[in-house]
Amino acid sequence: MSERTPCIGGNWKMNTRSADAAALANSVVEMTDRISNVDVVLFPPSIYLQEVASIASGSSVAIGAQDASEHPDGAWTGQISVGMVHDVGCSHLLVGHSERRHGLGESDQLLNSKLRAGLDAGLQVMLCIGETLPQREADKTAAVVVEQVKSDLLGVPREALSGLTIAYEPVWAIGSGLTASPEDAQEVHALVRQTVASLYDVESAHAVRILYGGSVKPDNAADLFAQEDIDGGLIGGASLDPGQFQAIVEAAGQSCRQC
Ligand code: PGA
Repeated sequence: MSERTPCIGGNWKMNTRSADAAALANSVVEMTDRISNVDVVLFPPSIYLQEVASIASGSSVAIGAQDASEHPDGAWTGQISVGMVHDVGCSHLLVGHSERRHGLGESDQLLNSKLRAGLDAGLQVMLCIGETLPQREADKTAAVVVEQVKSDLLGVPREALSGLTIAYEPVWAIGSGLTASPEDAQEVHALVRQTVASLYDVESAHAVRILYGGSVKPDNAADLFAQEDIDGGLIGGASLDPGQFQAIVEAAGQSCRQC
């Protein structure tokens, strides 16, 4: 159980059409009217950001982009800038999701540039980290996540940490139906927090929210969120189902000690 306000992110990935995105956003906005102790962020496909942001406007639901360029506006065909993300009413940016880090080969150096561009633009950045199955099987989980945290936060000043959330997502658990056990996930979350403390200080590390992601569903959410260093979740598949997403948000609300 955490003392930090829980956060649930819904990563819609490359799913929905305009009408589905609007319906899903409306149902999440309606649901959060009844749930006040969880921060909810939706990450729709970039082409629907403006539409979803306008639906969420005036509600407590925050909207973010799944990715943005590390470059300012300019000659970068097909990309979107952090300034554009901000301009259409978004407050958040996802950086380093494994489908980009591993799927598209984005390096720590690139992710560090994207993260810093997002923070500099005043966006809240959700940084995803996590080990692959071969890395886990080779007992490299700790080394991998520590290295990702250190490299991705390079040059980020302490005062910018208030704009950072970290999502630990073991790559083998994403979309696979497999989940880390709550105890295994807690161990990695504690290590991530300890790494942030070693880079900055204990107080700053204590304040950073660390979410778990990878096949979070209504039936495993409560046990995961009950762990001391798990402050909510980043949800893929289940975020496309309003009923499942609501149940996960409610589980996060119930895990909050002071809410
Ligand atoms: P999943 O995705 O919940 O479908 O496993 C999680 C994520 O990719 O963030």
